[in-house]
Amino acid sequence: MVKTNISELAIFGGSPAFKELLHVGRPNIGNREQFLKRVNEMFDQRRLSNNGPFMRELEQKLAAFLGVKHCITMCNATIALEITARALGLQGEVIIPSFTFVASAHALQWQEITPVFCDADPVTHNIDATKIEKLITSRTTGILGVHVWGRACDVDALSAIAHKHHLKLMFDAAHALACTHQGKMIGGFGDAEVFSFHATKFFNSFEGGAVTTNNDQLAARLRGMRNFGFAGLDNVVDIGTNGKMSEVSAAMGLTSLESLDKFIQINYENYLAYFRGLDGIPGIRLITYTETEKNNYQYIVMEIDEVAAGLSRDLLVTILHAENILARRYFYPGCHQMEPYRSYFPNAGMVLPETEKLTLKVLQLPTGTAVGKAEIDHVCGLIRFVLAHGAEIRKRYESQ
Ligand SMILES: Cc1ncc(COP(=O)(O)O)c(C=O)c1O
Repeated sequence: MVKTNISELAIFGGSPAFKELLHVGRPNIGNREQFLKRVNEMFDQRRLSNNGPFMRELEQKLAAFLGVKHCITMCNATIALEITARALGLQGEVIIPSFTFVASAHALQWQEITPVFCDADPVTHNIDATKIEKLITSRTTGILGVHVWGRACDVDALSAIAHKHHLKLMFDAAHALACTHQGKMIGGFGDAEVFSFHATKFFNSFEGGAVTTNNDQLAARLRGMRNFGFAGLDNVVDIGTNGKMSEVSAAMGLTSLESLDKFIQINYENYLAYFRGLDGIPGIRLITYTETEKNNYQYIVMEIDEVAAGLSRDLLVTILHAENILARRYFYPGCHQMEPYRSYFPNAGMVLPETEKLTLKVLQLPTGTAVGKAEIDHVCGLIRFVLAHGAEIRKRYESQ
């Protein structure tokens, strides 16, 4: 039901706009029959893990799709980041953006590598390459760029800095499957790139991830490290862990891959629907993606300018949650404000002004195959209504 009076908002006791929760990343499910057929095959062959046929098929297909020499699947992107950092010999300090999911930082800290947080570009939300060089010290061994929202970070600038200072360069491409940089698929940049196939990503293998690289030696080391460092049946040649992707995950990955174009098309149509629906609302900016590059459009990212809008991002999120619209605040409050980093670097915020601003004004709206056009129109209509009455709503909310 369209709301015409602020008393009808759920935060003021009205009924929620949606009966069921609308999620930012409700899993996309491909062809079930295909998936179940693969699962049956898996049982017939009694291959559940350990370099199984589905895992190898997924690696081949992803490598071909991304135009990269090696794709090494893993159990998730966090472990993949950890293994890659170790395989590259990273230690001491590594420069990363603070405006990222905390896994990027944890993957380093887990191995006692200090993440040194760099500020974000306020327009692209990616690491601000112009601020990297002054963070380099004698302890710096690498840069970990993140392609936030699937938009490539400044790969050329990062590569030039890494080259100049003899640093390793890896990318957290968790958001960036099927996205391009200068027309080339993300996956082959830097020393290695890491993807996430988590259930909430538009392409999922339940849990899962992959490292891609064009470096033969690095690929061999990554393959060994994800399997306890084994090179043969009883020969352990390196430190390793268990980072293997299981066959059931690979079966899901293959099934998701067959629906990849459809998922992207739906995301793109949703993005256009949001773009039209939110057009012209004062205080709101929807993050747009360059049409000349490919994006998977899995994130509908909105910035809200509290002054122009008349209410804060956080109040808008509270209102939306009450209406069963589970908007998210990625990446609030920024890695530098999370433990253990907050204790290690209590003043980090002073050198991260743009990150601090972003963490207060950015939110993500529901999309994916579980969200229809009518629902998007309804969400946009509600946001338009809320922002048209921003000051009034805020006053009433604060006096409750
Ligand atoms: C930027 C980024 N890096 C890393 C990860 C971790 O991925 P996974 O859940 O596969 O470990 C995520 C997951 O959401 C992410 O968004």
